[in-house]
Formats: sequence, structure tokens, C-alpha cells
Amino acid sequence: MKIVIGSDHGGFRLKEEIKAFLKKEGHSVTDAGSYDDRPSDYPDFARAIAEKIMTGKAARGVLVCGSGVGACIAANKFPGIRASVCHDTFSAHQGVEDDSMNVICMGARIIGPRLAEEVVAAFVAARFSNAARHRRRLGKIKDIERTYYRDDLL
Ligand code: RB5
Repeated sequence: MKIVIGSDHGGFRLKEEIKAFLKKEGHSVTDAGSYDDRPSDYPDFARAIAEKIMTGKAARGVLVCGSGVGACIAANKFPGIRASVCHDTFSAHQGVEDDSMNVICMGARIIGPRLAEEVVAAFVAARFSNAARHRRRLGKIKDIERTYYRDDLL
């Protein structure tokens, strides 16, 4: 799978561990930065990841900051991005199966590298169920995007 990964300074070290894990598992991984642990701003990496997914250059994204929260808030501002903070395997696969989550956010100050690998593995192995009720709910999210994500409202 084509996966784009990114972090701010708070998530840098965990991002590096997850990147190595995903490559070992045979995925094609694009690193959107950061490239060191100097202070940086998570919206920049949320944007870089979202743009790769919105343009079809990656199927899924992994975004790491200190808590996962700031990165997740920023990622969900992009149309077509469905991001969530997940620190457990159930949320990681169910979020894809039911909600078509395409970006997983994690907090390096919350979760250790070995559990993070299991969570990310559950995320990338999962597929959207395509069940009618879930498609209906996604349609309602798309309606919200169409209605409110307008330049003249910003
Ligand atoms: C940066 O210190 C920290 O605020 C950031 O990594 C993240 O935790 C925000 O949600």
C-alpha cells in the first residue's frame, strides 16, 4: 500500500520507528517530514499528508504528534480526509471498516513503539466494508463538506 507518514517534533522519533516498520512490511512509504526533532508545527505535516491523499499519491496517512490531537484536528480540515486518533487496534481497524478512516493519528507521548506498530498494522490491513449504512453516513459527511467548505465562508 502507498502510505504517507509525517510528524511534528513531538512525534518525530515514533514516526521514524513506524516508517521503518511499514517499510519492513513491504509498504511504499513517503516521508512528509519532519526530518528531525527541532520544533515544528503539526498543521504543516497534516497539510502535506492530506495533499498526498487528496491527489491520489497515497492511499493512507499516518500522522504523529505529541498527543495525536492537534494533528488530527488539522487533518480533518481537508475535504476527503477522515482522520482519527487511535491508540488501540479495535479503533484502528473499525475506523476503516465502518468510517473509511484514511489517516490515523497517534501521540508519541501516549503510546510506545511496539503497540504503535500493532495499531498501524491493524489500520493498514483493514478495508472499508462498503455496507449501505456506512456509505449513507459517509454521504452525509460529504454533504457537510460540500455545504460548509466554501471559500466565501472562511
Ligand atoms: C507540541 O508540543 C504538541 O503540542 C504537539 O505535538 C501535539 O501534541 C498537539 O496536539
